[in-house]
Amino acid sequence: MATASISAQIADLLGIDPTALVRPSVAEAQSACAPGQVLAATDDGGRDVAVARTDDGRLFIVADACPHDGSALSTGFIDGDRLVCARHGWEFDLATGHCPFRQACIDTRRG
Ligand code: FES
Repeated sequence: MATASISAQIADLLGIDPTALVRPSVAEAQSACAPGQVLAATDDGGRDVAVARTDDGRLFIVADACPHDGSALSTGFIDGDRLVCARHGWEFDLATGHCPFRQACIDTRRG
């Protein structure tokens, strides 16, 4: 008897379509990402990334893991030029990757 994948089992438990758990490609997320929005995506190497668009429309791609405690940055929000982690509120300048209030940094690149 075949065993369903963990994502299929989770989708079944949640009562949702399993394809809803699949992250879009970076290109798909770039197209869908509105100013002031951050979306989860998967890059060409299969890595989880966050695609973020600043309020003024610039697009950035960062690893989807907060350097503080690993929370998904794609669950955070945009505040001007900054990506704010939803878990504890650390903020990262999307252009530089620097966290202005902590000695932490994320890798960031223009989308
Ligand atoms: S995990 Fe992101 S601020 Fe703590």
